[in-house]
Parts: sequence; C-alpha cells; structure tokens
Amino acid sequence: MNVLILGSGGREHAFAHSIVKSSLLSKLYVAPGNAGTALMATNVDLSVTDFDAIKAFVLEHEITMVVVGPEAPLVAGIYDYFQADDSLKHVNVIGPSKNAAMLEGSKEFAKEFMQRNKVPTAAYESFTAASVDQGKAFIDTLKAPFVLKADGLAGGKGVLIINDATEAKNALEEMLVGGKFGEASNKVVIEEFLDGIEMSVFVMTDGDSYKIMPTAKDYKRIGEGDTGLNTGGMGAVSPVPFADDTLMQKIEQQVVIPTINGLQSEQLDYKGFVFIGLMIVNNEPFVIEYNVRMGDPETEVVLPRISSDLLSHLNAFAKAALHKEQFQIDPRSATTVMCVAGGYPEAYDKGMRINGLDQVENSIVFHAGTKKHNGEVVTNGGRVMAITSYGDDFKHALKKSYENISKLSFDRMYYRSDIGFDL
Ligand code: AMP
Ligand code: GLY
Repeated sequence: MNVLILGSGGREHAFAHSIVKSSLLSKLYVAPGNAGTALMATNVDLSVTDFDAIKAFVLEHEITMVVVGPEAPLVAGIYDYFQADDSLKHVNVIGPSKNAAMLEGSKEFAKEFMQRNKVPTAAYESFTAASVDQGKAFIDTLKAPFVLKADGLAGGKGVLIINDATEAKNALEEMLVGGKFGEASNKVVIEEFLDGIEMSVFVMTDGDSYKIMPTAKDYKRIGEGDTGLNTGGMGAVSPVPFADDTLMQKIEQQVVIPTINGLQSEQLDYKGFVFIGLMIVNNEPFVIEYNVRMGDPETEVVLPRISSDLLSHLNAFAKAALHKEQFQIDPRSATTVMCVAGGYPEAYDKGMRINGLDQVENSIVFHAGTKKHNGEVVTNGGRVMAITSYGDDFKHALKKSYENISKLSFDRMYYRSDIGFDL
C-alpha cells in the first residue's frame, strides 16, 4: 500500500523509520518532511492543513493510509474531510474526528469529558472575560501555586503556573481581557495544582479495542534541572522506570478504560493515538491533559521499542481489527536527546550546516528541523534532531546518545545534558 505521513518533525521521521520496514508498504511519502525523511521516503511540498491539495495528492498517488502527525490538521477536521468525500472515504486516516480532537483543542472540553467519564483529574473551574471577577475570587479559594490554562491550542505555551495570588489574578486578566494567547485564551481553566511526578501513556485505538504502547517521560524545559522556558520537548526516556505493573494496572483501569469507553459512549469517532499526560500523586494517576496524536520527542523512544510491524497494526484500524494484532515490545530502554538551535525556544537562526552525521554509530538520528541545501544538511527549525539509543537501562542508552552528540555539531548547537536526572 502507499502511505502518506503528514508533518515534518522528529515524530514523523520516527513514523517513517518504523513504517518503511514493513513488507506491506509500496511507496512512502512525507509532507512536508525533512532531510531525514528524505532518506527513506519521498518528501512532498504540501501544507498539512491544505486539505484540497492533500486530496489531489492522495488520489493521484493512490494513497490508502494517511498518518497524521501534528494536532492542527486533526483539530481542523481532516478525518471528517476524508469521510465526507466519496472519493476519499476508503482512505484509512490515522487520527480522530474533529469532535474527538477537541480533547486536545479545548481544555474545558477535555475536563468536562473527564468528569463525565470519571477519569481522575485536578479539580477546576473555567472562566471567560465576562466572569473574570469570579475567576479572581476562585483564585482566592485555592492554595498556591495556581495553574491557569488557556482553553485553546497555544503551541504548548498556554499553561501558566504562578506562585503569587496577585500575579495569578493579573495573568488571568491578561489572558481573558488582554488577549495574551489570542483566541486560545478567550476561556481559561483554573485548576488545582497536583504535586507529583509526570509520565505519559500512549494508547492506540481503532474505535473499538485499544492497545497500550510503551510509556515515556519527556523533559519540556529548556534548562538543566527542568528550569527556564517550556519547549516542545528536549528529550525522552522509555519505559518510565517507576511505572511498575501495579501502577500500570491502575492507569489502565482508572484512566485508559474509562477514556476509551467514554469515546465510544459519547460517539466520538476515534481511530488513532491517545496521548495521556499523567501526574502520579502518591502512586495514584491523575490526567493533566489529553493530546490526540503522538508526542514529540516521545515518539522517538516509543516507536523504536515496537519491534512488530507498525504498518500492519495501523492497517488493522480500517477493519477495527486491532485486537487481532500481535505486538512485540523491545525490552531494552530507549532514550532520546534533542539538539536545538541556540536561542530556542525564543528567536534562533536557521541554515547552519550540520556536521558529523556520518560519524554516528549505534544511535538513530531522527531529524526534526533540518533540510537539504546545496547538497548539505542544514538546520531549518528550533528543534533540529533527536538522537535515540537503546540500552539495558536508560542510563546505558543515554550514554550512547551523548557519545554520538559529541560527534555532531552546528553553530550554537545546544542540548540538555541531564535527561533522566530525576529518575
Ligand atoms: P499541559 O499543557 O496541560 O500538559 O500543561 C503543561 C505542563 O504544566 C504539564 O506538563 C505539567 O508540568 C504542568 N501542569 C499542568 N497541569 C498541572 C496541574 N494541575 N498541577 C501541576 N502541574 C500541572
Ligand atoms: N512532547 C510533548 C508533546 O508532544 O506535546
């Protein structure tokens, strides 16, 4: 079969890397892709939200599966666009419907869904510009720190955690009245602070059955010791060493099953990945967010640990036959470390030549913001490449990633040298 992957990050390179191994594959395309995906697939210059252009490409190249990497096309309704078109209906779009994508597109929608389906989560209330005074009064009823979340998509920047009540009230005012995050903060969810340790679980569902994939933990802050600005993610580890069988059983019973049952009972059409961000408080799981796609860089450690045929698993979605698929999980740990452009997540340069790619041994370089320019691989984004390695435990795996990073360079390259420091 011919497959199209939408997106251009390390996540999409990791999907390509797994899918290209399948004997079911004829041709693989990635739109728009990067210099890494170009090594194993054909890059196509298409915007991931230009559905008409995607349709024309899918028909011309007889694509029967579209794997959607990022959230934007899902929230914009790519699944529904394919379903509503007789010439596209047969295409297996890996991703939820527009209504279901609201689990990521609206924090309030996600919180209400969790409450209706008894999924454990932090207590909350939501507010608009008309109720900003009630919001401030609500802050007075909570203990610090205060968690303020823009309702809509804000590129991972929409969550503020503030220690001081006056500052929190000012921030609430800026979000609701001052348009701090544009339309995304027309509504703000204020919630109870959960003091615990974070991890993520990834669930595949064909709308009927589900499969829990390997766990992962990512490191979102730019600075060592989890300090400084939030980024898309600076590194990840899989499996999460503290996620033992007892905890995983709790997560499955208390979080995964009610979530999957909720999708079905609320008729939210969902054939894709559910990324569940958890806070573990005294060994009990609480959901802090849903994402309706795989994480980046978590995908760069989760997919390399699935040694069975990923394309076969995804192909089973079309016939709701996921329950028949046999999964094989690599028992080794996988870690990834993201190399970013100096200045990221604020202003940074592009176009710097990347040196040493041919020196890497015993690690996989997943390209993120890279492109080919005059025959050389150059940087083309803030997060440039993720270096993934296997090991008997995460420390051994990390050692290999760091050894290989020492052979890689570009002008003002930066990475965190403490991935996994808290484990
Ligand atoms: P989110 O975009 O919802 O994942 O939030 C971004 C980050 O804020 C999370 O990864 C957590 O580190 C933190 N966070 C979100 N909600 C809470 C909460 N209720 N208590 C503590 N930390 C939180
Ligand atoms: N690494 C976090 C995310 O993909 O949202």
